[in-house]
This record gives sequence, structure tokens and C-alpha cells, in this order.
Amino acid sequence: MCGIVGYIGKRDVAPLLLEGLQRLEYRGYDSAGIVVTSPKTPGLKMVKAKGRVRDLEAKVPARFKGTTGIAHTRWATHGAPSDVNAHPHMSADQKVAVVHNGIIDNAGDLRRKLEADGVEFLSETDTEVLTHLIARSTAEKLEDKVRQAVRVIEGTYGIAVLHADHPDRIVVARNGSPVVLGIGEKEMFVASDIAALVTHTRQIVTLDDGEMATLKADDFRTYTTEGTRTTAEPTTVEWEAESYDMGGHDTYMHKEIHEQADAVDRVLRGRIDDRFSTVHLGGLNLDAREARQIRRVKILGCGTSYHAGMIGAQMIEELARIPADAEPASEFRYRNPVVDPDTLYIAVSQSGETYDVLAAVQELKRKGARVLGVVNVVGSAIAREADGGIYVHAGPEVCVVSTKCFTNTTVAFALLALHLGRTRDLSVRDGKRIIEGLRKLPEQITEILKQEEAVKELAEQYADARSMLFIGRVRGYPVAREASLKLKEVSYIHAEAYPASELKHGPLALIEPALPTVAIVPDDDLLEKNRAALEEIKAREGKILAVAHQPQEKADQTIIVPKNEDELDPILMGIPLQLLAYHTAKALGRDIDKPRNLAKSVTVE
Ligand code: AGP
Repeated sequence: MCGIVGYIGKRDVAPLLLEGLQRLEYRGYDSAGIVVTSPKTPGLKMVKAKGRVRDLEAKVPARFKGTTGIAHTRWATHGAPSDVNAHPHMSADQKVAVVHNGIIDNAGDLRRKLEADGVEFLSETDTEVLTHLIARSTAEKLEDKVRQAVRVIEGTYGIAVLHADHPDRIVVARNGSPVVLGIGEKEMFVASDIAALVTHTRQIVTLDDGEMATLKADDFRTYTTEGTRTTAEPTTVEWEAESYDMGGHDTYMHKEIHEQADAVDRVLRGRIDDRFSTVHLGGLNLDAREARQIRRVKILGCGTSYHAGMIGAQMIEELARIPADAEPASEFRYRNPVVDPDTLYIAVSQSGETYDVLAAVQELKRKGARVLGVVNVVGSAIAREADGGIYVHAGPEVCVVSTKCFTNTTVAFALLALHLGRTRDLSVRDGKRIIEGLRKLPEQITEILKQEEAVKELAEQYADARSMLFIGRVRGYPVAREASLKLKEVSYIHAEAYPASELKHGPLALIEPALPTVAIVPDDDLLEKNRAALEEIKAREGKILAVAHQPQEKADQTIIVPKNEDELDPILMGIPLQLLAYHTAKALGRDIDKPRNLAKSVTVE
């Protein structure tokens, strides 16, 4: 979604901000803008452009100097993508400039009131309301002006504000939309995503909801919107700037698919305890007695993370014998759920900022539930809101379409399931068996990825399909769900996932030669049942691509995946289908890293 980047220091700010915006491009946007100033030459200089960051760069004049500035990539919500609607928004007196991520719910009402007072609006955006509110405040200090403005708005925001009369500072505020400060040597940065900061500093402060900050070149302070000082200790982010480079691959998706063996190695590192055939999960904050008292597990996430949660729920049921299920967080939070004190709630999110997941966590916490986070981005909102959790250590995932984070999240769930299992009735023998399986994963992933050429040929064959059906049974079903999501979001081919067991109850009516089926067929206790489903499809002349541990006679083609333990097979079986989605999208000439209409992290409702 939208991106914010800001800087205050001694350097020429425009090139620095443009570079920061480029690092946020992966989030998806339709226009961009920049405003700069400096204590030596006060006054705000602004340029905005519909289109890409390079279009903005082309419009920036040679004499666009400043040492303080804020910039933005906008994803249209209120008002079409245009130069005028792009951020920053400036007040009529040219003194206040604001960039904003999020949505102001009461923008309509506030706009009407301001218009009745004679304010003229230039854009159709909700953000412009904020600009006028700040500009009209009679408070002396910029901080107070911003504070007064944010207290009358309802909705979500991450904002950065410049004022021509206060060129020595940037004031920022957060409510529901990420704001991260980057602490440098006599220079400070702000961004909505650490991707824009890591080339400059690894010292990060993440603001909480309801928190504001003032950045000066050599100092920063944080406080609440009520004005109470807060303490903010910078933390060091591990992610290297190079992790954001493409590293010789044509897309981030391709790079991230190929990083999975290393990524899985990282999520396992230092966690396996051979002595007791279990794992150490330091951040869980759940002792053995508490773990034994859990009567249910409810996993909440969106999209791919929800699918990883479905796999996680099955692992927890199988290994720990605790009833577990997963539900889209976006649904859960709207159905006034019964919150049970004996249930362990787990919020899953790559970004740790997905609004629907965060809102579900906040609702659960308000009702006194214990919530764990399974999150990739360290220090993100969900990670901080949760009572404990597991970092999945996949490294930064830039492609909008999630691949390595999905895999690492499923491995993190395997670790949790093993841990919970070993505090309950899982035997030492089974604990050992799972640990051996976990250790095999990186090598098996490498083996799967070696089949890329063959998968590419298959993708080229299927690229002209108008629709595809994905089926799987029990362990295979979430794999089918995720593979179908991957194909549709990156190739725009319609895809539907169904439990193989449900075929007879409806979807069999769809089967004909023009509808290919991708079937997940693990060598487990349901193999024969899955084979029967393939027979039914073949009898109706349906084409079948199987992902299996051994060749499937009824399938037109089979991608063979190395066998692991039954419980861990779902971690591997989706990987060739990530490649299938990638190569199908490539054959169709899609914008692989930035599929249309999608954003990397959905920080609005
Ligand atoms: C994944 O390919 C998607 N683009 C999307 O479904 C994503 O998984 C979802 O929006 C949740 O994001 P999160 O993991 O950052 O919370």
C-alpha cells in the first residue's frame, strides 16, 4: 500500500528520498510526491507525479535543494490516481505539508465543516483534511498543531508533517499504519517500512498506535497524542541492505522462491533440542504448565498466512493432540467471537502489520485472551501486541506474492506443534522422527527447485487455461488452497481450490478437457482415496497434473516431491507450485512482483 519516507540531517535530501521511495515500490502505488525544505532556505518546495517514482524523478528540477524532506507513494483510495491527489498535500498558505498512509473515516464530515468555513480543497483525498486542520491550528508548536488535528480525526493514519516555519523538525504520528524511525549519526529517518531505511541505518524505533515523534537532525523524542513522553529504545534490525537486491534474479518472486532452503535453515537454527527431542522457542512466554492447560488453539491470519495457519492447525492437532483450527482474521473480528480463556490464539502475519490481523489481536487482548504471534518482521505491530511468539526468520520478502514466508511459517508451526506435543503426550520417538524430518527440509527444498526447467515447461502448457482446479485432502487441502491463491494472484488465471473429498458434492460438474486439475497426492494413509479422485476426474476426460511422492498413473504429468514425515509433507508439496505460478505468470507477461490491485501489506481495512 502507500509508502512514506522522510529525512532530516545535512545531506541533499531529494536523491535520498527518491531512493527510499524506490525501495517502497514493491508495496504497490499509483503516484508519488516529495516536499523539501531546509533551515537555511525556509519555504516548502514540492513536486508530485502520477505514475512511477521515475516519473516523479523526471519532474524534480535541478535546483530542488533541501536537507529536510518527506516523500510518499500513494495507492488511491479517496480520489483517482492523479498529480493533484498524490501526496504530499499542502495548505493554502504553503506552510504545511503532509504525507499520510491509512484512511480517515470521518473525512467527509470534516471536509464539509472546513468548506463551510471557507477552506478550498484542491484534491479529492481524505488526507487534505488533515493538512487544513494542522494549518488552521492556532497552537504555537508544530507538535501541538498535529496533536490537535489527529485528535479530531477517526480512522487509521501514519503521517509525517513538515512546516515551513519549523524547518528543523519532522513531526510524525501513528494510528494503525506503521511508522518506523531510523536513528542515524546527526541525521534521522522515518519510513512506513524498514525497507526504506536499512541502507542508511539499522537502529530502528517502531512507533505504537497513539504515539507521535519529533525528529530533529541530532535528536528524536516520542510521546503520546495526549502529550505524555514515552520511552523508545532503538533496536537493531538484522536484515542487510543486500537482502533487498535482486541478486541476479529477474524478479523478487524468483529470488525468494530460491532462498527457501536457506530461509528454512534459519528458522530451525538454534532451536532444536536433541536431548529432549523437542525445540526451544525462547519468545513463546508459555511455560510447560501453561502449555498443558491449553484446551484449544485458534489460528488467525489472512491470505497466504491463513493458509500457513491451516497447515499449522493440522500439525498441532496431529502432534500435540490439541483441537486446533484456522480462520481468516478478517472474518473472525467481525463475528463477535466467543473468547475462551483456555484457548491459545495465534496471529500469523508476514508483515506483522496486516490491519485485519492486528484488529483481531487487539480485540482478543481486550477480552483477556492469550495471543501468540507467528510473524516475520521483527518489532512489527502484531509482534509487539502479542504476549509472545515465534519469529519465522525468512528475511525480507519483497515480492507482493508470498513464497518463502509461507514456507518458513509452516516450519515455525511444525516447531510449535512439536514443542506443544512434547509438553503433552508426543513420545520421544516421535519427537526424534519429526526433528529428523525438519533437518531434511533444506536439502529437500533444493532438490525440488532443481526441477525448475520441467515445471517451466508444464507452466507453458497450462498458461492458456482459463481456469484451474486445485484439489487436496486433509494435509493436501491447505496446500491446494495456497497453490490456487499463488496462481491466481500472480498469473490472473482463475483458480479454485476444493477438498478432493468434496468432488462428488459439486465440482465434478466442472470437469472437462478444458479445465486442468492440480492434485496434491501425498504418500500417506489417504493415498488410495486420492487416487480414486484422480480416477473420477480422468473418467470425465479432465487433465491432471499431480504433485506426489511417486508417479501417478491417472495423472497426465506428475511432479515428484521428496518424501518427508507425513506431518511435514505439506511444507514441501506447495513449493513446485510456487514455480508453476511464477512460470505461468512469466509466460503470460505479468508484472510478477507487483500484481495488479494488490499490495504487500494491507494496513487498511
Ligand atoms: C500473499 O501472496 C498475499 N499477497 C496475501 O494473501 C498476504 O498473505 C496477506 O495479505 C497477509 O499478509 P501478512 O502475512 O503480511 O499478514
